[in-house]
Amino acid sequence: MILLKNINQILSLSSAHKKNGRSLNPDDLSVIEKGCIIYDQEVRFIGKFEDAPQDLVNKVNITKDLNGYVVTPEIIDSHTHLIFGGNRSKEYSMRLNGADYQTIAKAGGGIIESSRGTNSLSDEQLFKESCEKIERISSYGVGTIEIKSGYGLGIKEEYRLTKIIDRLKNHFNPKVKIINTFMAAHAVPKSFSSSSDYIERVCLPLLDKLSNEGIIDIIDIFHEDGYFNKEDVKLLFEKAKSLKIPVKSHADEFKDNSGASLAVSFNALSTDHLLCTSDDGIKALASSNTVATLLPGTGYFLGKEQANARKFLDSNVKVAIGSDYNPGSCHCDNVLLLASIAAPNYKMNICELWSSITLNAAHALGLKNQGALIKGMDARFSFFKTNTIDEITYNWGRNLAVEFDSI
Ligand code: NIG
Ligand code: FE
Repeated sequence: MILLKNINQILSLSSAHKKNGRSLNPDDLSVIEKGCIIYDQEVRFIGKFEDAPQDLVNKVNITKDLNGYVVTPEIIDSHTHLIFGGNRSKEYSMRLNGADYQTIAKAGGGIIESSRGTNSLSDEQLFKESCEKIERISSYGVGTIEIKSGYGLGIKEEYRLTKIIDRLKNHFNPKVKIINTFMAAHAVPKSFSSSSDYIERVCLPLLDKLSNEGIIDIIDIFHEDGYFNKEDVKLLFEKAKSLKIPVKSHADEFKDNSGASLAVSFNALSTDHLLCTSDDGIKALASSNTVATLLPGTGYFLGKEQANARKFLDSNVKVAIGSDYNPGSCHCDNVLLLASIAAPNYKMNICELWSSITLNAAHALGLKNQGALIKGMDARFSFFKTNTIDEITYNWGRNLAVEFDSI
């Protein structure tokens, strides 16, 4: 049993948790001043040390003094595409010089370009590069990371990526929890006659194979013009339903395609991007358990208008923020930095900001036991060497996160 005592501030989010991550006020942060946490695998006690049950205190064998530190629920990046090879810096400059994302993609750049870079790396190279990325993300205080496949774009290639993600998951467990998302439906290579041809010949058979191995946590699809359409989404999601694997989607990014509503109709864990979601889509999200995951980095990187976050929040939608870390549309791996920059632009309050990368991000991955520090929930924390919660995001761009072992 471990005791963390004299913690300057603990962000418990107990009230945000009670409200299921919706319609949050600053007070819903539920900050505990100068408190303590006693835990093993799960939180056994959280509050003032003098209120801790004696029998629990008697079981403590490691004690750390966290005077000068802040503890938050573990930060979660619920949307990354971090397993890729090569880079697309050239496209970034092309966009600065006037080209747009879809035009570059049509000319053979974009996701297809990254699939060439990815498929040219050996298993060991991809594993090693991914390890370095995960170590770096973890150094920002992020402890749960979702990783999507999707730069293989063939049966063998996508199978390989999902297996490497599984290897990463085992390698980093329990320090970093990895969620393995199958996103073979990311783009359609030229050798396929249509998107549905690709779904039928690559995604569905692969799902049968991988679901037997039990290593996929979630299934995702890029529901967008020029990529996959409504019928493809239905085909894939029906298959997911039959295999009892949860789903999520990339939707309404370039234009409103009723993607949010379609995701809700399949009880998706989340639907992401949502730059162009209609009022009907927002309404559907509000009366569902599907999380709206906003990806501000992508808008910044592509120079696009941001999602209307306030509209989602004021409509009682559960909102998360993810990094969307990928080689093309957002080459930024720091979700805390992105949320800190986005919050004033999204007009989010401080509790909405923190919940978006903890509690609501956990729900976007189906992790109901994470995202808040409450007795009985998983003991997964982020530690910051600073005095207050406010100072963490106030210092955006400066990494105040520290590892447990260095305290
Ligand atoms: O979420 N939308 C699909 N996937 C990524 C883009 C990937 C890329 O450009 O390589 C995204 O933005
Ligand atoms: Fe994405």
